[in-house]
Amino acid sequence: MNKFQEEILAGIPARLPQAKPYDPEINHAPKRKEILTDEEKVLALKNALRYFPEEQHEVLAKEFAQELHAYGRIYMYRFRPSYPMYARPIDEYPSKSRQAAAIMAMIQNNLDPRVAQHPHELIIYGGNGAIFQNWAQYRLTMQYLATMTDEQTLVMYSGHPLGLFPSHRDAPRVIVTNGMVIPNYSKPDDWERFNALGVSQYGQMTAGSYMYIGPQGIVHGTTITVMNAARKQGGAPEGKLFVTAGLGGMSGAQPKAGNIAGVVSVTAEINPKAAEKRYAQGWVDELHTDLDELLPRIRKAVAAKEVVSLAYVGNVVDLWERLADEGVHVDLGSDQTSLHNPWAGGYYPVGYSLEESKRMMAEEPERFKEAVKASLRRHVAAVNRLADKGMYFFDYGNAFLLESSRAGADVLKADGSFRYPSYVQDIMGPLYFDYGFGPFRWVCMSEKPEDLAKSDALAVKVLGEIAASAPEEIAGQMRDNIHWIEEAGRNNLVVGSQARILYADCEGRTKIALAFNEAIRRGEISGPIVLGRDHHDVSGTDSPFRETSNIYDGSRFTADMAVQNVIGDGFRGATWVSIHNGGGVGWGEVINGGFGMVIDGTEDSARHIREMLFWDVNNGIARRSWARNDGARFAIEREMARTPSLKVTLPNFADETLIRKTLNQL
Ligand SMILES: NC(=O)c1ccc[n+]([C@@H]2O[C@H](COP(=O)([O-])OP(=O)(O)OC[C@H]3O[C@@H](n4cnc5c(N)ncnc54)[C@H](O)[C@@H]3O)[C@@H](O)[C@H]2O)c1
Repeated sequence: MNKFQEEILAGIPARLPQAKPYDPEINHAPKRKEILTDEEKVLALKNALRYFPEEQHEVLAKEFAQELHAYGRIYMYRFRPSYPMYARPIDEYPSKSRQAAAIMAMIQNNLDPRVAQHPHELIIYGGNGAIFQNWAQYRLTMQYLATMTDEQTLVMYSGHPLGLFPSHRDAPRVIVTNGMVIPNYSKPDDWERFNALGVSQYGQMTAGSYMYIGPQGIVHGTTITVMNAARKQGGAPEGKLFVTAGLGGMSGAQPKAGNIAGVVSVTAEINPKAAEKRYAQGWVDELHTDLDELLPRIRKAVAAKEVVSLAYVGNVVDLWERLADEGVHVDLGSDQTSLHNPWAGGYYPVGYSLEESKRMMAEEPERFKEAVKASLRRHVAAVNRLADKGMYFFDYGNAFLLESSRAGADVLKADGSFRYPSYVQDIMGPLYFDYGFGPFRWVCMSEKPEDLAKSDALAVKVLGEIAASAPEEIAGQMRDNIHWIEEAGRNNLVVGSQARILYADCEGRTKIALAFNEAIRRGEISGPIVLGRDHHDVSGTDSPFRETSNIYDGSRFTADMAVQNVIGDGFRGATWVSIHNGGGVGWGEVINGGFGMVIDGTEDSARHIREMLFWDVNNGIARRSWARNDGARFAIEREMARTPSLKVTLPNFADETLIRKTLNQL
């Protein structure tokens, strides 16, 4: 057994490991605001010390108290493992269950410093999207996974491994819940408090469910969105100007997507570290710190129809105001600052340096809040001026419209609805989700690039066959995705494990997965594959301002679909399932779930694929159809014709004139 395996099997080591110095080279999470009372601090320390034997408490109590004071959280830095963090080929994990070994690889991939945003604080993306709350939880979880069998299930409560419980081979190996709280306790400050106490975490979507594959997923989603937004403005994408903000974890995909879509993009980013990282990666072509230089550069790029991504290292509000003042014609506008987390570092107010904002956030949280609100009002005012001149502005799922409206910005229409659409209302919902297309993904557990290349080729073949007879309604979506997968290898999008994303519908996902399973059985692909998806999908997420923003029957504030989805996946063959409060648009604003499925070439895997993927897509289509969405109605009727045992309740359509007349007569 090698040292890596020994360390995993040791779990929380019996002897205290050496304290680890705080590494200034790493991108660290911002200091969280002080939220706990003195009594609650006692509780937080008692909670943290639960993981350790009493004789270590004196040393650890002091250390954890210091962490709580300095960072607002207890991360237990001392317990960071000594081995490098990255996904290894599945055979290198100590295990009694191949499924559990695959999950270990997925966890390590999330935490890989090339992949994670704040790896030492176990934050994967979005500023607060956690996989675990502390390093003790990580170590204990890995030990459970390394020792469990296929007749046990590991239960995860917001990063805390509650334990292994007896189950059976067909049951999920892991059940994850993140941030599940009683609905009345779901305000942002409740998250701050529960998280500081060490009893809950914000799992975002793929962060807390071990399914984050680095920026590739978001590049694909953003490319589709920008391409379709450009189509809405008519004509070719070349020479169209797209302005937005954020070069962080997910938002950093915007310039790359802009280039793939063929537009001129300008992305503002206030944090030079984030901007330089994307520049060094080659994801953004030019960095500019001076608006006097940037404005002529934008004009030149638009005139020459260059395909280029420019970044402004500064506050996006300054950029918007300057564009509006100079009357620059902007075709497409959006924003991807982390407004799901406005008071704790997601959005930096105009007029303050990054450092000053960070200080205010921790030391004068109320003043900081007012500064953010004032900034959002200016932000929207400038966007409105450009939108009045023809810019198509859309909310890209970061709660921009929601938080701007709460800040009193001029972003509402007379009837109280938002002045601008969300990208799901206009693009992703009607063109993709309603037809069952969503962010299907897979990861090759051999970690061999040649296996990924073979899987890509299989996906192209399968999609080509389906596209040949696809109905008009979905032909465009099929074409865009075939183009994507053909280009994917060339675009070098793999960061971390050998993973691929592709938008596919139920038929596509199932046939691709069955083709992989067959290739594994024949030995053409050399190891198991993990299937999964982003939670940002047809059925996975109830989020009234994002995934379900194109639901118009009043049910968009319900969460039955997301909860049903996870339960249904759990008994139809998922290897792990997860359900989260919060993700994308903020704690308390969304319920979302996901799954992972290990396929290994067996008949069991083929059955899981057929049964679980069918439900995982058609649940949401059935709900969207019941909400009277045309595309979903078309898709579910098509599915019922293919699958006689599927019987879905279909809506009748009432004449609104009749209803209004009736009501007026009362
Ligand atoms: N639509 C989608 O599919 C989708 C997917 C993932 C994430 N999101 C949402 O998008 C948001 C961004 O996610 P992320 O992972 O990139 O977060 P992030 O925190 O890593 O990045 C946001 C970036 O915005 C910058 N920023 C903040 N305020 C700014 C300002 N005023 N001017 C210029 N730059 C500013 C920050 O410095 C940061 O680098 C989140 O709210 C997330 O939930 C949407």
